[in-house]
Amino acid sequence: MSVLPVITGQNHPVLRTKTKPVAKVTKEIQKLIRDMHDTVRAEDGAGLAAPQIGHNERLCLAMISGRMTPLINPVISARSKEKETEEEGCLSLPEIVVAVPRHVSITVKYLDAKGKSQERRLQDFDARVVQHEVDHLEGVLIVDYQTIG
Ligand code: NI
Repeated sequence: MSVLPVITGQNHPVLRTKTKPVAKVTKEIQKLIRDMHDTVRAEDGAGLAAPQIGHNERLCLAMISGRMTPLINPVISARSKEKETEEEGCLSLPEIVVAVPRHVSITVKYLDAKGKSQERRLQDFDARVVQHEVDHLEGVLIVDYQTIG
């Protein structure tokens, strides 16, 4: 079991860099997923993206239907027109809460931990968590949604 340190700070370069797609689901990637699992559980988070532990890879974990689910190379392929705004936190931005508008439902395509293609339609909390984690993979943080006034 390896709990990794979570990188914090809204201007940290690794959190602000767009990630590279995972070329192949290797044993190293699977080990990284296990370590991310241990880390997000230790931190009591709803998700974790690879940049948060210093890896520039398109890989994240997200709580979906109560299960911490690894998403490799996730792409949001469809989004509802309807959005809802709710407060979100982030393990990389302790003590910051931002009201973030998110699409109420999305379709996400990804590879699972075995490298198999998956496609899921998600709603509400599940959709919100995945949008938050996919943002991380683009170098986007919740503070980017802060509005003035
Ligand atoms: Ni986050």
